[in-house]
Amino acid sequence: MSSNQESWGSRLGLILAMAGNAVGLGNFLRFPVQAIQNGGGAFIIPYLVCFLLMGIPLLWVEWATGRFGGKKGNHSTPFILHELDPKRALWKYVGVFGIFTNIAVAAYYCYLESWTLNYVWMFIQGGFDGMGQDGVANYFASYITMNQNHTAIYFWLLCLLLNTYILSKGLSGGVEKAAKVGMPLLLLFGLFLAYKGITLKAGEFGALLDGTVGLNFLWTPNFDSIWNTKVWLAAAGQIFFTLSVGMGSIQCYAAYVRSKQDIALNAMSAGWMNEFVEVVLGSSILIPIAIGYLGVDQVVELTKSGGLGLGFKTLPYLFTQWGPLMGAVAGTCWFGLLFFAGITSSLAMGTPVMAFLRDEFGWKRGPSAWTFGLIVLVLGAPTVFFFNEGVFDEYDYWAGTVSLVLFALLEVILFAWVFGMDKGWKEINEGADMKIPTVYRFIIQYVTPLILLAVFLGSLPDIISKIQNPGNHYVQGARILLLALYAGIAYAVYVAYRRRKTRI
Ligand code: PHE
Repeated sequence: MSSNQESWGSRLGLILAMAGNAVGLGNFLRFPVQAIQNGGGAFIIPYLVCFLLMGIPLLWVEWATGRFGGKKGNHSTPFILHELDPKRALWKYVGVFGIFTNIAVAAYYCYLESWTLNYVWMFIQGGFDGMGQDGVANYFASYITMNQNHTAIYFWLLCLLLNTYILSKGLSGGVEKAAKVGMPLLLLFGLFLAYKGITLKAGEFGALLDGTVGLNFLWTPNFDSIWNTKVWLAAAGQIFFTLSVGMGSIQCYAAYVRSKQDIALNAMSAGWMNEFVEVVLGSSILIPIAIGYLGVDQVVELTKSGGLGLGFKTLPYLFTQWGPLMGAVAGTCWFGLLFFAGITSSLAMGTPVMAFLRDEFGWKRGPSAWTFGLIVLVLGAPTVFFFNEGVFDEYDYWAGTVSLVLFALLEVILFAWVFGMDKGWKEINEGADMKIPTVYRFIIQYVTPLILLAVFLGSLPDIISKIQNPGNHYVQGARILLLALYAGIAYAVYVAYRRRKTRI
């Protein structure tokens, strides 16, 4: 069907790229904040259950559907899903989600990613020296609202350019290389900072509490809120976001896996690497250090309003307490780590869009990468300019939360019930380098779809109340933009489908 014959350079490269896809800002910024907001130790049990019963099964389903679609030259979800049930036109339009979500998430994610780049730059220059806690918090506030100057815009543009450039170099020449450099450095920086976080001592360098106080807050099980549906929804949402499932990006990466190559073990390697980074490194840095200096109450308070900023508002000042050299090293490591985590994920968001343009319209790598960059520029601009009006959060809600659950639900029904579990199980096990516990066949067929349905129904009241509450003009504009994006992609899929028919 296409001239899009790329594949991954090596197995290690594939695993690192997939791990890079999953390991992102979600692991270091979103996870700790979700955990704090949902009661610390109360969050972790639902989180692990969701990982075992939704995360792992969905990883196998998505890797398998991706590789299956790739065999016939399909690398993006509209036509990968179509391949699973060629008789029904509907699935192509379900597959539109797998392009839509990536573009819409990239639109706000790249902005966040550009903050980390700016902070690395600030640390290298010693820009935070002597600023004080309020100074850092004010710097952050004026940075994102662009009160002072246009630095935020320049860094955002730089970040977009960098993404587009790497994407234009292709999978093995761009994405895989970025992951091979970024992931090991990220692990190194992460281990160093986790060590510093865990060994933080009260009374040394101005810390009030030991690092272990924060860790205990997070890891002491609290069974009370296990019955709280809100906590379960948050846990499910975090599992989706962090593993990048329900997005269309795993299917796309997996479509470039060679047809007989293992997916069972590869999926587990990348998935568990993500969990290691999230639950071990992600919980040993931001929380222990922030709590160690500010105390539990103040940190809980800080996460109430816009939690993602926590790492930007507090850590630069806290690091400077460790002395000029150690502070600069820690700051560069922390924001450098965030940047690597971010960029290897945003590259994964660009790939499905490029794959679609290349498969269906025969575009070359360069123009498809630049087109992606341009779309993100246009859709991302409102999140940059109207950040405080709620546009950023609006994108995150619809594209980064609701569509993931909906898409995953439909895709697992298609896989297990329409394509059929016999064929599906065979696909997952084809070329497998590990023995998948057979209980997972049952889980994929019954448990995962049912929990997904429950999660979706559980969030319906919230979705409906959002729809009924129009919000300010900016939020309304954001919704119209997102709808237009979905419609535009659906139209492109329709055109592509007609082209296919005339080609046969
Ligand atoms: N999983 C990434 C994170 O944890 C986010 C992501 C979303 C990556 C969509 C790829 C596609 O930050």
